[in-house]
Amino acid sequence: MPTRKPLIAGNWKMYKTVSEAFETADKLVQLVKDVDQAEVMIAPPFTALAPVFAAVQGTNVALGAQNLYWEAEGAYTGEISTSMLRSTGCTHVIIGHSERRQYFGETDESVNKKVKAAVAAGLIPVMCVGESEQERDDNKTFSVLDKQVKIGLEGLSLEDAATLVIAYEPIWAIGTGKTATKEQAQEVHRYLREWIEKNYSADLADAIRILYGGSVKPDNVTALMAQPDVDGALVGGASLDADTFSQIAKF
Ligand code: 13P
Repeated sequence: MPTRKPLIAGNWKMYKTVSEAFETADKLVQLVKDVDQAEVMIAPPFTALAPVFAAVQGTNVALGAQNLYWEAEGAYTGEISTSMLRSTGCTHVIIGHSERRQYFGETDESVNKKVKAAVAAGLIPVMCVGESEQERDDNKTFSVLDKQVKIGLEGLSLEDAATLVIAYEPIWAIGTGKTATKEQAQEVHRYLREWIEKNYSADLADAIRILYGGSVKPDNVTALMAQPDVDGALVGGASLDADTFSQIAKF
């Protein structure tokens, strides 16, 4: 039996000021303090990382960022390095979210550089993959995912991949209220796990956590989490409210 501990992660996207973020995190910490069945992580915007860390430090809620830049430092106006993230208390970082690919020119190649930079810095990368509605309709889901993981993980050794988390987020399910069915999610998660087994090892495939993201809510999380290859959730909208997100963490 796999011993994967589920990860319930909240991606706050471009929401919440410093005070709003602190208040939500502070409330969440109280609500999930007895949650043991899953790890809980929240990824506020960069500006709120340090204040949110003040609320979650020493608790069972981990801190994640939503992006990084792979260079250690330098003249890269507007970018944030891994050591800057580490200095705020971050342990996780979301990489290659479809919104970054869609609006900010993120490519599989840049995702690859970012995943490697995260691993090198000891941050847990949560690498996002997923197909568009058109790609699914054209029966290209698996070829799209194959390319995303192949390039995204290129050059990453078995040892490097030890902490990797993959998040499957079908683009058509993000912010739309249209969740993938549990069967659709399971099918893709199985595919991704088999990809890891083929390209890395059976042990890593067994240990790696594959999260589902896309309109996860308290009323659909249980069915998704019951799938054998769904090891957690990456939650957008429903993570912004501490009560709602805590219900998801208690799936
Ligand atoms: P929603 O939960 O709002 O659909 O967002 C999913 C997502 O993009 C998480 O990264």
